[in-house]
Amino acid sequence: MQLPAPRGPLTERLFAELARPPHAFGPPPAGPGPYGDRPGDPCFGEEDAQLALFVCYELHYQGFDGVDDRWEWNPSLLALRERLETWFEGWLARRVPRPPAPPSREVPRALAALVAADDGPSLSAYLRSRADTAQFREFVVHRSIYQLKEADPHTWGIPRLLGRPKAALVEIQSDEYGGGRPERMHAELFRATMRGLGLDDSYGAYLGLVPGVTLAISNVMSLFGLHRRRRGALLGHLAAFEMTSSLPNHRYSQGLRRLGGDAGARRYFHEHVQADAVHEQIAAHDMCGAFAAEHPGLTGDVLYGAACALTLDRLFAEHLLGRWREGRTSLRETDAEVTVR
Ligand SMILES: [Fe+2]
Ligand SMILES: [Fe+2]
Repeated sequence: MQLPAPRGPLTERLFAELARPPHAFGPPPAGPGPYGDRPGDPCFGEEDAQLALFVCYELHYQGFDGVDDRWEWNPSLLALRERLETWFEGWLARRVPRPPAPPSREVPRALAALVAADDGPSLSAYLRSRADTAQFREFVVHRSIYQLKEADPHTWGIPRLLGRPKAALVEIQSDEYGGGRPERMHAELFRATMRGLGLDDSYGAYLGLVPGVTLAISNVMSLFGLHRRRRGALLGHLAAFEMTSSLPNHRYSQGLRRLGGDAGARRYFHEHVQADAVHEQIAAHDMCGAFAAEHPGLTGDVLYGAACALTLDRLFAEHLLGRWREGRTSLRETDAEVTVR
């Protein structure tokens, strides 16, 4: 994957550092309240900060062409990442009300109630019956940022667990990774969807085109996955994903069929209708329920992780539907028309 174009002074500076061999560098200039997003804060733009954080995290996944692998654990890089994470945690805190911490045995029920109370706009209903092909392709472009590394961020949780919740997480992840068959890996199925829509299925091909809200969806998973203290939130996040997947994927599949997508292109969505109906139960009960029983002090974190997933999903849906209502692209309006449509 290539580093994308910078989106402001923060990514300009970061990408210039990454182009050189690993070295010490000072923090980028910032006034009080660095990276803040309150009015009046001297801040780097949100697009700039989300992309910088995404790139810092990506060094733990596939990395970038021309960027030395040793940057992954470079202390200056990690210091910058920590400041970005502090900004991002504040960004989340302002958007995601923290649900009350339930007693351990109530966690599966509290997760279900949280999901049921979610009243965001339905992107899947729009894609099923109204989206045109260009809009469906845009949706897939956004989703490719996470789906081409589907399940990877939650895998960071495995060595942080023991016993029942660990076994449950491994059971889910095993399905996500195709149960030993590469062609059944969900990331591979998603690549087939991309090819079916005439899109470039290579990893990170569209990083430069997606807005900050799409990057935030990946960033929150990496934030929770890469910090052991956040393991409760990581599990809650995965549970919310699985619990809100089956029906929307059915609708995506119907939408793609309406637009002429063949079975190969629809297989990714089809697979999730079945698989996530099962994963939902494993995630809520065997994984989060068992984790909560072992860690009664972390039930609030589990619910918070789920709430973050739901909120980001809502912000994402609002962004796409809002832009489409205005007759605009939901991608960054740089070269989107040329590259995707
Ligand atoms: Fe999946
Ligand atoms: Fe799943």
